[in-house]
Amino acid sequence: MSDQETGSKGGAAAGPPEGAVVASGAISKAAPGTIPPGGAGSTAAKGVQPHAPSGPSSLNVTRRSFFSSLGIAWVAFTGAMSAALTGMTRFLFPNVLFEPPMSFKAGFPSDYAMGVDERYKEKFGVWMVRDDEGIYVLSTTCTHLGCTPNWLSGENKFKCPCHGSGFYPTGINFEGPAPRPLERYKVSLADDGQIVVDKNMKYQQEKGQWDDPSAFLLYTG
Ligand code: FES
Repeated sequence: MSDQETGSKGGAAAGPPEGAVVASGAISKAAPGTIPPGGAGSTAAKGVQPHAPSGPSSLNVTRRSFFSSLGIAWVAFTGAMSAALTGMTRFLFPNVLFEPPMSFKAGFPSDYAMGVDERYKEKFGVWMVRDDEGIYVLSTTCTHLGCTPNWLSGENKFKCPCHGSGFYPTGINFEGPAPRPLERYKVSLADDGQIVVDKNMKYQQEKGQWDDPSAFLLYTG
């Protein structure tokens, strides 16, 4: 019995013998430990079309792409969190306009000399005016279109810089487009003897409201 016959009978069911290399559907023998022509991974030897390399450089590209995607995701996440935090902050601290109180103490009557006093013009929008009979409080809002007039002590009048309206120290308008006098605010004395101005209550001359006792503080001290 030949070697070929012996192999077909004894080893056919066990597959290719040890050391055999499969190439182009044929089985050829190769010595153990040797590399067939074209290398162990030769595609030519296997009859397979070349494909993209799957070695270390391919892994590097994949890793770089992964970290690049991770970086973009992290930037997007950080941006979203920042926007959310900004929204929460605005919710906790809404845009609130802090205005001065409508009612305030304005010192003692004896603190005021005769004439117009501007100490509370900027903060509270009022002029304190003292005459022979007492003290009244004028609004600094022009009755034309709401500008703030200037007190011209040399001319003894209020003059609006916007359209030229003029007002006497009493608040009565006498020139320019202002249609009516300046308004007055409630004035009274607190228990401690200080003047209290309440801007929640206003008095208009054209309505006869300046005669209201709350529109004037008698003081001749
Ligand atoms: S706003 Fe004062 S004159 Fe027009």
